[in-house]
Amino acid sequence: MRQLIAGNWKMNGTRESLRELADLRAALAAKPPQADVLICPPATLLSRAFASVAHEYELGGQDCHAEISGAFTGDISAEMLKDAGASAVIVGHSERRQYHHETDAQVAAKAKAAWRAGLLAVICIGETEDQRDAGHAHKVCGDQIAGSLPDGVTAANTAVAYEPVWAIGTGRTPTSAEIADVHRHIRTCLTDRFGAEGTAIRILYGGSMKPSNAAEILKLENVGGGLIGGASLKAADFLAIIACVAGA
Ligand code: PGA
Repeated sequence: MRQLIAGNWKMNGTRESLRELADLRAALAAKPPQADVLICPPATLLSRAFASVAHEYELGGQDCHAEISGAFTGDISAEMLKDAGASAVIVGHSERRQYHHETDAQVAAKAKAAWRAGLLAVICIGETEDQRDAGHAHKVCGDQIAGSLPDGVTAANTAVAYEPVWAIGTGRTPTSAEIADVHRHIRTCLTDRFGAEGTAIRILYGGSMKPSNAAEILKLENVGGGLIGGASLKAADFLAIIACVAGA
């Protein structure tokens, strides 16, 4: 399976930012990427972004509600994201877990909602700094996999994103050995639970990935791509990361 390079714009971007997407599109059309490319802009930009691109990259949401529709003010369903042009959605991002107190069970319900709508679920896991310092990184990730991944996960319907919370937006990244170690553990958890399918599920790394460290991270075993926040906001940086993918 090709690596997946996903950009998470978080709560950034207005219509003006569509210019970055136009630049991205032009560059990818001129030089087709060796990776699958996904951009998750704020929901307000989804339909415009969809209307303004062909298939140089896919679009995704940053979260979804578990229900199809109803009295959930401010929320957006997976079906609505699909309708706006998304083919994927991030669920269980640590910022959702932290600021919106999302539990593993809620994340699992959202992942199922994503599948129901025909979207790829990008399910995020990762330990905090205190948990790592206490030597619990493996256990935290294992527990989150057990609780946040519903039965029925396949390589086609899900990607797992390992994002150590202390590396997100901080400029600090784990060493390559640390990334490889946790990704190996995640792979074991996935194959233990999902069998052969677990060997193919893409495990993305996320947390301060940038042009200067992407090549080293993306070549590590069991790294199936990246989930990129800050460095996805500028087309030039994001393209430089995409260019680090060596291809099959
Ligand atoms: P960052 O964010 O690349 O800005 O560290 C990654 C993420 O939160 O997905």
